[in-house]
Amino acid sequence: MKKVLADLRTTVNRLGKDRTAVAVSKKAILQKLTKLEKEHLHDQKVQQRDLLRMDELLQVVSGLSASGSLPKAKTGPRHDQLDQMAEAINTLGGELKNSSVTLAEKEALLKEVHHRVKNNLQIITSLLQLQSATIKDLEANQKFTESCNRIRTMAMVHDRLYMSNDFSKIDIAEYMRGLIKFLCSSYSISQKKIGLDLSIDIDYGMFAIDDAIPLGLILNELVANSCKYAFTDSKKPKITIVFQETLTKTGDHTFNLEVSDNGCGLPNGMDINQSNSLGLQLVVLLTEQLGGTIKLRKQKGASFRIRFKNKHCLKKG
Ligand SMILES: Nc1ncnc2c1ncn2[C@@H]1O[C@H](COP(=O)(O)OP(=O)(O)O)[C@@H](O)[C@H]1O
Ligand SMILES: [Mg+2]
Repeated sequence: MKKVLADLRTTVNRLGKDRTAVAVSKKAILQKLTKLEKEHLHDQKVQQRDLLRMDELLQVVSGLSASGSLPKAKTGPRHDQLDQMAEAINTLGGELKNSSVTLAEKEALLKEVHHRVKNNLQIITSLLQLQSATIKDLEANQKFTESCNRIRTMAMVHDRLYMSNDFSKIDIAEYMRGLIKFLCSSYSISQKKIGLDLSIDIDYGMFAIDDAIPLGLILNELVANSCKYAFTDSKKPKITIVFQETLTKTGDHTFNLEVSDNGCGLPNGMDINQSNSLGLQLVVLLTEQLGGTIKLRKQKGASFRIRFKNKHCLKKG
């Protein structure tokens, strides 16, 4: 009998050391108690005593998974060992409780970090804008605006992460709509009477920060370029953005981003992979970062198609 209880205590001590063993050890305790019951069936007194102990033990063990706050065993010499077991399990329950508090704290911290990153990026944007107000040269001024927009594009991802449930993924469609709205106002698209068509058709639209930021920056560069260069003498200027998803035979989610305009088109013979200017260099590098490919489509005006796989995207909802 003493040996069985000693075995039980060993099992419970191990529980305290290895949280993941809780379920297994709990099962082991219950199995040993059942064996104990069978062995002592011939002795009514012993059986009654053991059953009483078993009852208390079951309460202790089941209390662990139910609440983490366990009932104390009765006092008295014959309950000493049970007391020790209850204490060990209580400690374990407390640890489990603490670990969930830590998780909540970590989530709060993560939320705070995204909020602060967004605020800091916004401060940088404001400072650059204040500085640009003193720059008379139009081209330099425009470069400031473009830099501000790049920072703003990144800040918007952190803003959405801050508002998301798990702080790790954002709804890319909502983000893209918000970004387009911002770019429209920044480049005065409606005042310039530029039409804008946005079509998004995706299912697996929850993107991680590492995929959302490059995609946002690519969109920013291409829309900015259309606004800046495409419509020198267009009658009905228009920018078309299409974002689609396809599922490959291997089960990968492939995304297509097409940004086109009906303007004057890229300069003849231009190779975007050999570009010396920052905007298109960024587009090429960011596409590489997404593990994707970029193609210029032949049509009137400029048309870019970026294709990439996203292994980390999740279905919305
Ligand atoms: N949509 C477009 N329509 C016409 N020309 C374009 C378009 N996009 C880019 N370009 C041309 O490609 C060049 C490189 O663009 P980019 O690398 O973004 O540099 P930046 O915008 O700083 O001039 C531009 O100077 C322009 O001549
Ligand atoms: Mg550019």
